[in-house]
Amino acid sequence: MDAKRCADSNLVTAIQMMPQDANPLGNVHGGVIMKYIDNVAGMVGTRHSGRPVVTASIDRLDFHHPVHVGNMLILKASANFVGRTSMEIGVRVEAEDLVKGEVRHTASAYLTFVALDPKGRPTELPGLLVESDDEKRRHEEARRRREMRLAERKREKREQKQSRG
Ligand SMILES: CC(C)(COP(=O)(O)OP(=O)(O)OC[C@H]1O[C@@H](n2cnc3c(N)ncnc32)[C@H](O)[C@@H]1OP(=O)(O)O)[C@@H](O)C(=O)NCCC(=O)NCCS
Repeated sequence: MDAKRCADSNLVTAIQMMPQDANPLGNVHGGVIMKYIDNVAGMVGTRHSGRPVVTASIDRLDFHHPVHVGNMLILKASANFVGRTSMEIGVRVEAEDLVKGEVRHTASAYLTFVALDPKGRPTELPGLLVESDDEKRRHEEARRRREMRLAERKREKREQKQSRG
């Protein structure tokens, strides 16, 4: 299977926030933004793998600033790291006040997707070619996050086993 470049799958998209996305004060719900993050990351994961993918996990997600009705939400998503069957997709979310022209960093999210074969089993992924300095930095940071996730899962499994006796 030929490795693919980050540039082959990354994408940038923008959506204007509407009243149905928000509470009565006009603040956009975090869940609405999370849905867009999952959706955009899933498209990048599918593009990279050429297979259907499922979300295995989403790392802790902090919202730095409120997003308001009328703001343009900008989502920049790319594959950061590819393992055997799973990959980390990073999504940077910004909100632009279109009238003032101000752009704020709203959140950064890291999601793990697993590619599935026709029987719904995890299946091998093409490798990831990292080229630019930014891609290399994101790749290294993602590698460290993956190590932490794996260690955490291992610890949880051990504790579950111990609590079952
Ligand atoms: C994700 C899923 C396919 C993993 O299946 P599994 O049998 O646990 O698979 P494995 O243990 O063989 O792990 C497969 C890969 O996923 C990774 N993985 C599994 N669970 C993970 C998790 N919670 N977080 C991060 N990575 C995970 C493993 O590290 C492995 O990666 P690698 O091949 O790159 O080393 C399975 O748990 C699933 O189908 N979950 C539901 C997914 C879904 O429906 N999501 C939508 C929201 S409900």
